[in-house]
Amino acid sequence: MSPNASTTPVRAMLVLGTRPEAIKLAPVARAMAASPHFTPLVVSTGQHREMLQQMLELLHVEAKFELDVMRERQDLAKLTARLVDGLGEVVHAERPDLVVVQGDTTSALTGALAAFYEHIPVAHVEAGLRTGVADNPFPEELNRRLIGRIARWHFAPTPRAAGHLTTEGVPEAEVFVTGNTVIDNLLWVLREGTGRNHFRTGLRRVLVTLHRRENQGDTMRAMGKALRRLADRGDVEIVLPLHKSPAVREALLPELSDHPDIRIVEPLDYLDFSATLAGCDLVLTDSGGVQEEAPTLGKPALVLRTTTERPEAVEAGAARLVGTDPQVILDAAERLLDDQDAYLRMAKAGNPFGDGHATERILAQLAEDFGVDAAAAPTPNPLVAP
Ligand code: UD1
Ligand code: UDP
Repeated sequence: MSPNASTTPVRAMLVLGTRPEAIKLAPVARAMAASPHFTPLVVSTGQHREMLQQMLELLHVEAKFELDVMRERQDLAKLTARLVDGLGEVVHAERPDLVVVQGDTTSALTGALAAFYEHIPVAHVEAGLRTGVADNPFPEELNRRLIGRIARWHFAPTPRAAGHLTTEGVPEAEVFVTGNTVIDNLLWVLREGTGRNHFRTGLRRVLVTLHRRENQGDTMRAMGKALRRLADRGDVEIVLPLHKSPAVREALLPELSDHPDIRIVEPLDYLDFSATLAGCDLVLTDSGGVQEEAPTLGKPALVLRTTTERPEAVEAGAARLVGTDPQVILDAAERLLDDQDAYLRMAKAGNPFGDGHATERILAQLAEDFGVDAAAAPTPNPLVAP
């Protein structure tokens, strides 16, 4: 790759389409917009319509290009086809210096693919996460492996994630341990001011999010039953911001909509979600991002999945992988509510996903490789041995 002339800002196309991508690329977009060395070209694919729109303005991200790929219940093949088509056109027309994708969604995979077809290098933020099971989570584990074959810069959140990449044959010189940008964004929101906490009562406060495709159907229905039994204790208020996915709604609403201690709300904007997370006692989730944010705020997280690509939180003691069996979920939640020592051990375990400076490390590396001035040296990185 030929470096840019040192005075020309690097034109970086940032592709985002879902709620977590907006959240995790927001600090990168903001930092690029504030830097003389970068011009961010944000493409919002619209893979999520309402849940994405509700984020961008609040997080100070301005989309330059908007696609409109969402169709209710479209299958992955159609979504992928629409995205490759739409992103291909934007990348072809704009010819950015690089394309930045985040994580493992279909928008991220197709952003990388569209760039590859135009011979444009790809930077992958949150690279190297692996469960080791190709179809779990489905289809995200395969998506991130494929992006790992395409990317030129692999910005890994942790040393473990970096190790996965080098083990797979990615040259060490292309892998950078940065921490996760989700922490940068959460700290930014805590500084700027969070929103409204959606818990209402003085009961024990349990925040729940569920959406994974592999949990939908019978597994999610059974989880709903476990949540109902938890609420039946009478000393617990459950807040469940419900994902917009119709499959999620079909699985959870019949079981949970009429319980006095279960508050089902529409997806919360990030400011309200952060406030609600900060105000809860316990988190039950199958979300990736929530597993990373909960330890930062000292909230024990029970992960309702059979695999995790974020074992760091489990090893640190901040999260527990409890699986999908309703009785096991119920027992694990009740133990934390009833055993203060077990609760405090998890609450105090700390966050293994970074120090909030991932974005500046990413920009410094790109600035160096494109030959634009990185100016200030990035913050020393505690995740990497000197
Ligand atoms: C996708 C990502 C997943 C990520 C999740 C975050 C893929 C393959 N999966 O999940 O990695 O964890 O987003 O939430 O990219 N819908 C709306 N309005 C919205 C959003 C969704 O109506 O604002 C509906 C649509 O009908 C859509 C369905 O929800 O068809 C599911 O959305 P989709 O993007 O397919 O989500 P997932 O694949 O479940
Ligand atoms: N989130 C949010 N509002 C909600 C639920 C979640 O802003 O009602 C945020 C949450 O803070 C986290 C991100 O959405 O940063 C996680 O998104 P999701 O669970 O949809 O996807 P995943 O992280 O599993 O890919």
